[in-house]
Amino acid sequence: MKTRRDFLIGGSLVAGSALLGSLPAWPAKAAAADSRAMRTRVIPVSGETVPVIGMGTSGSFEVPNGGAEYRALQEVLKRFFAGGGTLIDTAPTYSNAEDNLGPLLEQLGLRKKAFLATKLSGVTGREEGLAQFENTLKRLRTDKVELLQVHNLRDWKTQLAVARELKEKGQVKYVGVTHYVESAQDELADVVKASRPDFLQINYSVTQRGAERRVFPLAKDLGVAVLTNRNFDDGALFNRVKGKQLPGWAAEAQITSWAQMFLKFALSDEAVTAVIPATGKPDRQSDNLKAGLGPLLTPAQKSELIALVG
Ligand SMILES: NC(=O)c1ccc[n+]([C@@H]2O[C@H](COP(=O)([O-])OP(=O)(O)OC[C@H]3O[C@@H](n4cnc5c(N)ncnc54)[C@H](OP(=O)(O)O)[C@@H]3O)[C@@H](O)[C@H]2O)c1
Repeated sequence: MKTRRDFLIGGSLVAGSALLGSLPAWPAKAAAADSRAMRTRVIPVSGETVPVIGMGTSGSFEVPNGGAEYRALQEVLKRFFAGGGTLIDTAPTYSNAEDNLGPLLEQLGLRKKAFLATKLSGVTGREEGLAQFENTLKRLRTDKVELLQVHNLRDWKTQLAVARELKEKGQVKYVGVTHYVESAQDELADVVKASRPDFLQINYSVTQRGAERRVFPLAKDLGVAVLTNRNFDDGALFNRVKGKQLPGWAAEAQITSWAQMFLKFALSDEAVTAVIPATGKPDRQSDNLKAGLGPLLTPAQKSELIALVG
């Protein structure tokens, strides 16, 4: 049986420059920005660290295989790993996202560096859960994943038991539960309290702050790692700040874009282990990665931002 050690990536800082040697060349500008070590946070259940900027695949990886958008994803992934990222969130129900992600990681030789998070999604009962996971492994071209999450709490008791069974067998390193809307946060908190998963995933942004009330304090108390999704409110936050200048204090926090501001907002809550912004555009990936460097927001800066954007 695989032990926790078998999975450890080792080291507490993920230096992007250490990865550069094994990858094809890309623009000097992107590589230069990646030479500092990205901030990491600890997964409480194991003590392993994970880089705070992860990436999502909903929408961004749901593109036709082999086309221009698919080719852009190669660069999105190269920049992600070169910048010190490792954690990638996907799901079997994000149409063909797993089918694109698996081969791309394989072609780029990046699977071993990746912390793959996927889900048991839309299934009912043990047999369906196990069958979906087996198929996910094929689609992702791997024999294990780092995190298996029960998507949107569907059939959660059975599916969490399935995830734990797979953890016992060494095919899954951590188990988790997810949701993505404010109205489900109390239910998510109840499930976390009752079942104590290794991870939870929930929506959190400048305008959707419900997780601060119950989910984050509970995660801190119980030692549950937290991934936050929809940090840009699925892109809607950018419309809210269209034409607005960054606040004067942005430079102090080494922030040069609204995307970095929104990601640092989420990371400024110490309960948050990592954020998982989704983009299919290489330059936006480079932008998002910068939020893993430099200072976070003070409580006063967070309040100012809420007043400005909310
Ligand atoms: N567990 C769940 O139920 C659940 C639900 C929702 C999401 N998720 C996970 O969380 C991930 C993120 O959530 P999300 O995809 O809903 O929303 P999101 O990350 O809040 O927003 C994604 C949108 O932001 C745009 N964007 C990304 N980076 C940008 C930048 N630097 N500048 C300007 N625009 C930028 C993207 O456009 P472009 O692609 O055009 O760049 C896309 O339209 C998902 O991919 C998925 O892995 C999980």
